[in-house]
Amino acid sequence: MPSSSQRFDLSGKVAIITGASKGIGEAIARGLAEHGASVVVSSRSQPAVESVAASLRAAGYEATAVACHVGDEGQLEQLVAATVAQYGGVDILINNAATNPVFGPLETMDGAVFDKVMNVNVRACFLLANRCKPLMEKRGGGSIINIASVEGIKPSPMMGVYSVSKAALIMLTQSQAREWGAAGIRSNAICPGLIQTKFSSALWQNEAILNHFVGQLPAGRMAQPEEMVGLAVYLASAASSYSTGGVFTADGGHLIAG
Ligand SMILES: NC(=O)c1ccc[n+]([C@@H]2O[C@H](COP(=O)([O-])OP(=O)(O)OC[C@H]3O[C@@H](n4cnc5c(N)ncnc54)[C@H](OP(=O)(O)O)[C@@H]3O)[C@@H](O)[C@H]2O)c1
Repeated sequence: MPSSSQRFDLSGKVAIITGASKGIGEAIARGLAEHGASVVVSSRSQPAVESVAASLRAAGYEATAVACHVGDEGQLEQLVAATVAQYGGVDILINNAATNPVFGPLETMDGAVFDKVMNVNVRACFLLANRCKPLMEKRGGGSIINIASVEGIKPSPMMGVYSVSKAALIMLTQSQAREWGAAGIRSNAICPGLIQTKFSSALWQNEAILNHFVGQLPAGRMAQPEEMVGLAVYLASAASSYSTGGVFTADGGHLIAG
């Protein structure tokens, strides 16, 4: 029986991380690499992901940069093909890239906004996981981690379409876990609360909004992206061998507050 620390080891594993040029995705890519995985760092910008991959390689880890706009099915296909060409397969998929282009009430959102959010936040995760599934199966199993949000469980005002997309991503996670368990593939969702990244800057750059938000939190503060890494390493590794279809929060107590 491996020791408990050995069960977190990712040596020999290959991970794709979307949206990894900054924020939570970059932190997770670094964390997986630190635990021994070869990481494919991806976002829309080749220079941005090349810079992350170069800094990982400089630290002695194995990393490759592949640009991919997750809303483009052809680019998803190329991302998987480049991963197979470089590392021979895939064991871990982190569906992290997402968009929330507009804050506002539901009735002001048009169909184009709805379609864009659903395309990037849900359809892309569905398509990329489908492409990785046979590759994971060939290697005896794998782990899919979908980065959802507390918004997918408890919606805030002005973020309705985004909340719908994250609720759909949670159900995609549970459907993947249901259908692919027999193939040795686990799928789990991480639901962050407020994390200090570019994505959430509209919330934390406004002092009044930030104070109102963190004032209700048991943790009393927002989090840094690195605080999401422990859950991701757990779910990617054999340490979580009995966790599938799970919805894991890292939210400073947001869901029990207010
Ligand atoms: N921050 C929070 O408070 C918070 C809370 C709950 C959930 N989340 C979730 O956490 C995940 C990561 O967000 P974050 O806060 O880390 O955001 P972030 O720091 O702004 O990073 C977003 C990443 O996604 C990439 N990206 C954006 N659109 C993309 C697309 N269409 N195709 C490929 N890559 C794309 C960006 O890179 P490029 O610009 O280089 O493409 C960047 O690497 C998202 O799923 C978000 O919904 C965040």
